[in-house]
Amino acid sequence: MRHFPTLVSEEAADYVGRVRVLSPEVAHRIAAGEVIERPASAVKELIENSLDAGAGRVEVEIEDGGVALIRVSDDGSGMSPEDAGRAVTEHATSKIRTADDLASVISLGFRGEALHAIGAVSSMTLTTRRRGTEGSLGARVRVFAGEVVESATASHPPGTTVEARDLFLNLPVRRGFLGTVRAEANAVATVVESLALSRPEVGFFLRSDGRRSLALPAAADLRERISQVHGLSLARSLVALGDPVVWGFVSPLAISFPTRRYLHVAVNGRVVEADSFAPAVARAYADLLPKGRHPAAFLRLELGPGEVDVNVHPAKSAVRLRGGRSAYPLVVGTIRSALAQEQEIGGGAPPEEGGAGLTLIGQFAGRCIIAQEGDELIVLDQHGAHERILYERLSRNPRAEATTLPSPVVARLPEDLAPEVWNFEVEMQALGFRFEPFGEGAVRISGVPETVTDPETALLAALHALAGGEDLAKALACKGSTRFGENLSKEEMEALLKEWSETTFREICPHGRPIVKRLTLVDLLREFGRI
Ligand SMILES: Nc1ncnc2c1ncn2[C@@H]1O[C@H](COP(=O)(O)OP(=O)(O)OP(=O)(O)O)[C@@H](O)[C@H]1O
Ligand SMILES: [Mg+2]
Repeated sequence: MRHFPTLVSEEAADYVGRVRVLSPEVAHRIAAGEVIERPASAVKELIENSLDAGAGRVEVEIEDGGVALIRVSDDGSGMSPEDAGRAVTEHATSKIRTADDLASVISLGFRGEALHAIGAVSSMTLTTRRRGTEGSLGARVRVFAGEVVESATASHPPGTTVEARDLFLNLPVRRGFLGTVRAEANAVATVVESLALSRPEVGFFLRSDGRRSLALPAAADLRERISQVHGLSLARSLVALGDPVVWGFVSPLAISFPTRRYLHVAVNGRVVEADSFAPAVARAYADLLPKGRHPAAFLRLELGPGEVDVNVHPAKSAVRLRGGRSAYPLVVGTIRSALAQEQEIGGGAPPEEGGAGLTLIGQFAGRCIIAQEGDELIVLDQHGAHERILYERLSRNPRAEATTLPSPVVARLPEDLAPEVWNFEVEMQALGFRFEPFGEGAVRISGVPETVTDPETALLAALHALAGGEDLAKALACKGSTRFGENLSKEEMEALLKEWSETTFREICPHGRPIVKRLTLVDLLREFGRI
């Protein structure tokens, strides 16, 4: 461990917080672009600085949606007067030095750009005092529209306050593009909430036009922070993800929302645009939620700093995994197994050895299978149950061998699909379809996936799904499955029950609809007025 003599001048002491101006070569390597677009972007930058400085508490105050005033105070490391003076200049940062450092950034900031950018478009005052310099004064630096107009000593508790007044004072056009005061204030609140979700252990407070708009004291963990931000009932219901690389929380199957409002992603502690993770989350729930419904997902990815490229977007809101890796399969897989586990614990009676606890009673109206499971009477939607079985079979083994048809079937293709069939030939082959051109607008099918009973309908369904970017397994499961109103033999029903009881998400069909109704004797006796 190194010990510094107490009375060394700051220039000699190589302490971590020291701000340097990046060389033009390094500065050049940094994704450039608009840093401050609206008050919320300035608030984001200032809070990130506070977090990088190790703050335990961040207070934000805005007036007029942040246009008249933004003030962010923290109790972090603070800066020496020399650093404060340099921090407001262009490309000045304590967080990286060389281009190589860009490969393993662990702080939220790294461009040395934010304070300079805010100072360039406002009347900005930075007041700070370094932690551990008790008894001495701090520093104040004032910048007006990009010009440093004052550097002085000032008193300040350990930590930093940055105040930006009159945002875009020199850019009237930009100011004209801003939303209403309310819209800008809401955007600021969203940014504060979002950053707060990424750091539960830090307290966040927001005042807007003198009124307290958010109060999020330091929380014990992510679940508690979610509870502070989105309410106890959502937080309590969430299912924990159990992977060392992808952790966090997602909503259980019974809870969904009409929008993607509850999607929040942080990679190595950095909040990133959740949109890029939306497809993976949607995939994980594709066969579990009804159309138009979305889950809640608070995802945390923990990768080595060298595995993530943060220098992708000027607003630092996107990251890229190095080596062309994709987080997609990992995210989908982690969510699926957490949901499957939750289903086992919470969803109905677990099947005993190979579904032995399930006894067939009979069929009702050619649509439902009635059975007994443990001490419950169950009514099963046979179409939905069959779809669930086929869906899970197809998803497990999408590259199924083709079953050769006893005699080939000619399928006419509708005009809009005729050209698609050759665009998706490879995918169709992989699914187990075998076909060849058969004159204008038709194909001759010689093989189909194992689950398919009606080759023509299945081929068209698969094509439709591929052309529309839909879930193939879902489309095929639906088209291949037992129709409503079909009488099944006892053996068929028993086979269906057995396979259904072994599916993972057996309570819902791949369209997200419930397929089981359960009744206990107590339910019935209550109904009959016997208890
Ligand atoms: N709240 C703060 N507490 C302590 N030091 C700070 C604070 N804000 C800024 N600094 C110091 O000022 C430097 C410049 O800040 P600035 O936000 O401009 O750049 P950065 O955070 O290094 O990179 P980026 O532009 O990506 O945010 C930081 O590197 C840091 O050393
Ligand atoms: Mg910064």
